[in-house]
Amino acid sequence: MLAMKLLIPVASGLEQITKRQLFSLGFDKAPADNGRIEIDGSWDDVARLNVLLRSGERVLIMLDKFHAVTFDELYEGVYNIPWENWLTVDSKILMDGKSVQSVLAAIKVTGGVAKKAIIRRLGDKIRSGRKTFAETGARSIVGVSIYKDEVTVTLDTSGEGLHKRGYRSLAYSAPLKETLAAALIESTFYNPDRDEEKPFADPFCGSGTLPIEAAMKGLHIAPGLKRDFDFTAWDCAPKGILERAKEEAKDNEKPNAKLQIFASDINPEAISIAKYHAKRAGVDKHIHFTVANATQFKSDKKYGVLLCNPPYGERLSEEKEVRALMSAFGKAFRALPDWNAYVLTSLPDFERWFGKSADKKKKLFNANLVCGFYSYFGKPPKLEDLK
Ligand SMILES: C[S@@+](CC[C@H](N)C(=O)[O-])C[C@H]1O[C@@H](n2cnc3c(N)ncnc32)[C@H](O)[C@@H]1O
Repeated sequence: MLAMKLLIPVASGLEQITKRQLFSLGFDKAPADNGRIEIDGSWDDVARLNVLLRSGERVLIMLDKFHAVTFDELYEGVYNIPWENWLTVDSKILMDGKSVQSVLAAIKVTGGVAKKAIIRRLGDKIRSGRKTFAETGARSIVGVSIYKDEVTVTLDTSGEGLHKRGYRSLAYSAPLKETLAAALIESTFYNPDRDEEKPFADPFCGSGTLPIEAAMKGLHIAPGLKRDFDFTAWDCAPKGILERAKEEAKDNEKPNAKLQIFASDINPEAISIAKYHAKRAGVDKHIHFTVANATQFKSDKKYGVLLCNPPYGERLSEEKEVRALMSAFGKAFRALPDWNAYVLTSLPDFERWFGKSADKKKKLFNANLVCGFYSYFGKPPKLEDLK
C-alpha cells in the first residue's frame, strides 16, 4: 500500500515516550522535529495509530513542505498540492495552524489564503470552475504550520484530538489530559506485562484519569477503541481499515491481567465520577477506589508505583494549604521506602515542602501550566523478593 509521510504532534517533553510506543509498533525510524514525530506509513497505519497511540495527540498526513515568505508563494505552494486526491466536491474544509519565527505570521490570514488556493484547485479540477461551494460533506481539517518560513501542509485524520477516548464524560475540576496521563504512566515504567500484580496508586485521583489509563495499559485496551475518526468519512481512505485496526486491537487485549491499582481522593464526588468513568472505560473491576486523605496514604504492598497530580494551589486551593498538604503527604510517602513516587505539580519549591530532593525532575506542561515532574526512586527489591 502507498507509503505516506505521517506526523504525530506530541506535547513538549514527551517525544521520547511516544517514540517508544511507535518503536513497539514497528516504527523504528521516527525522528522528532518541532513537536512532531515523523514516520512513513500506509492507510492501515493511519487506522492503527489512531486506535493504538496512547500519548500522541493526532495522526496527520503530511501533504507537502515548501518555503514561503509571501502570500503568493504560500498560495502557489498550497495550490500545487493535488487536493482532488484528498477532498471531495462537498468537503467541509476547516483550517488550522500556527506560525513561529516566520515572515508570514498572521495565522488567520495565512489560513484564509491557503483555503482560497484549495478551493481554486478543487474548482479547477473537480468542481467545474465554481468558486464557492456548500461545504456540507465530511470534515477535513487542513493544517498550515509555518516554522522559520517553511510551510508544512497536513490533513488531520483524527479530527477530535486523541485524548478524547470517550470514557470521560462527567465534568471535574483540573482533570489531566488523557494523553498526558498515559505519557506520565509510561515515564514510571509501570508495566504489568513484566511485573504482574505490581501495585499502582494515585491518592489524588480526581476524575480517575491516571488509574483508568494505567488499567487500560495493563489490560491492553486500545485508547481509540470506542471512538470514530475523521478519515472514516473520506472517499480517499480505503474502507474497512478502522474496523480491521479495532479487531486487531481487541485480539491483543489481556482481560485476565492481574492488576493491583488503587485510586483514592478526599472528595467523595470525585470517587463517584472516577468510578463512573472507569466503568465506561471497561476497567472498573480492576481498580480499588476509596475515599481517603492522601496524608494517611499507606500500603501493605511492596515496591509499588505512586503517581499523582495533587492540587496545585493556583487552581484548586491556596498555595499555603497545598504546601502543608505536600509536607504531610511527603511524610506518609517516606513510610514506604521501597515505593517509587512520581508527582506532577506546579507548586514552587515542591521538593522543599515534600521534604525530599527528587532523584530526577523534568519540566512539563499541564494545560499551559509549567509543572515539574518529580521522580523518587525507592529501595530496589532484595534478591529473595524477586524469587
Ligand atoms: C488536580 S486534581 C487531580 C485530577 C486528576 N488527576 C484527574 O485527572 O481528574 C487534585 C485532586 O486532589 C484531591 N485532594 C485534595 N486534597 C486531598 C487530600 N488531602 N487527600 C486526597 N485527595 C485530595 C482533590 O479532591 C482533587 O480531586
